[in-house]
Amino acid sequence: MKCVDDFRLQFGKKEVVPIIIGGMGVDISTAELALEAARLGGIGHISDAMLPTVSDRRYKTKFVSEKQKQYKLNIEIADKSIVQFDLGQVAEATRLHVSRTMEAKRGDGMIFVNCMEKLTMNSPRETLRVRLNGALDAGVDGITLSAGLHLGSFALMEDNPRFRDAKLGIIVSSVRALQLFLRKTSRLNRLPDFIVVEGPLAGGHLGFGMDWAEYDLMTITKEILAHLAAEKLAIPVIAAGGIFTGTDATNFLEAGCAGVQVATRFTVAKECGIPEKVRQEYFKATEDQMEVNTTSPTGYPMRMISTSPSIGAGIRPNCEAYGYLLDGNGGCAYIDAYNAEVMRNPDTKKISVMEKTCLCTHMRNYDCWTCGHYTYRLKDTTHRNADGTYQSLSAAHIFNDYQFSVDGKIALPVKL
Ligand SMILES: Cc1cc2nc3c(=O)[nH]c(=O)nc-3n(C[C@H](O)[C@H](O)[C@H](O)COP(=O)(O)O)c2cc1C
Repeated sequence: MKCVDDFRLQFGKKEVVPIIIGGMGVDISTAELALEAARLGGIGHISDAMLPTVSDRRYKTKFVSEKQKQYKLNIEIADKSIVQFDLGQVAEATRLHVSRTMEAKRGDGMIFVNCMEKLTMNSPRETLRVRLNGALDAGVDGITLSAGLHLGSFALMEDNPRFRDAKLGIIVSSVRALQLFLRKTSRLNRLPDFIVVEGPLAGGHLGFGMDWAEYDLMTITKEILAHLAAEKLAIPVIAAGGIFTGTDATNFLEAGCAGVQVATRFTVAKECGIPEKVRQEYFKATEDQMEVNTTSPTGYPMRMISTSPSIGAGIRPNCEAYGYLLDGNGGCAYIDAYNAEVMRNPDTKKISVMEKTCLCTHMRNYDCWTCGHYTYRLKDTTHRNADGTYQSLSAAHIFNDYQFSVDGKIALPVKL
């Protein structure tokens, strides 16, 4: 019987264990988590979501307070178009986070950065250009483009000396999205080095509509493999979304995938950024609490635990401090939903906004409990302590379980 360890993901001459820990913003897929994946010979992701904010927390910079101070007169104003990021600070935050992570890397694996197009930062093109090139300049092994079609993203890196040596790939959820992307990149004579096919059971934002339940990862993966074969394109395909056991992973490798990308199992690892108290909520979650809703201002459906504090919270938009989701005109669907609610309840001090959520603030504070569909099975991956809490796991334990387990089994950790 085969296991994941019988396979290797090949990038030219470089070989890695075919397990990729997916990017989880905002600093849920921490440097510590990514470093463990690399140490064990796989691929880990850090995320470039809200890096100025993450940099303040990690490296004691003052980007958020400086930005907030600069735009404080705008706080009560609905039009956020003047609230711009300082590109030098975005570059500095990217350089800090990526280079510090890369300097700490040990082992034969690789570290990639997850870069979401939907973080439009009130200047979509220029901020994306700085983020992508900043990560390349700081020595990241690769970039995974996500949350968007990224039709212009390769061109933004074209002049970077690392454009052809770094591993560049994209997350897609359909053949159609892939075709559009490939058409664009072929003009630069630069194919992606890998393609992540993400199905509807993944965590974070979904590349599907609210009809997500009608789709299935294996079907989409096979369509994409067939399309690449027909086009004679030998690009490694990585399957993602709902791969919960080593056996699930092996099934995708046997179907022709070069690797798998997994995330939910690692949300309860000690090295992940989710605070212990919130991690317990992930363990406790039940199947009926798995919810896909449209509260994200990005326009993409997002999966989260239905008890997530972000749902219905009516905080004032925090764009002067954050503002990562502002479109190129200073707009965000949360600002509109918030203002409409304030208009409806002029005398209410604490309003509730059900329609949308202030995603920047809630993700930053780990109050938006986004999760993969199988989060409700996390309790089966560990021991219950005498006080009713669940024993946190190490990333190495989860990684090894994916790599070596067979027969649909999940290895429990040594009981503490
Ligand atoms: C808590 C959490 C946060 C996530 N955040 C992001 C993100 O910021 N960007 C992204 O491209 N994917 C994100 N994802 C998706 C993962 O990277 C991954 O592709 C997917 O969740 C794999 O499916 P699984 O969680 O069922 O293993 C997130 C997933 C989780 C569970």
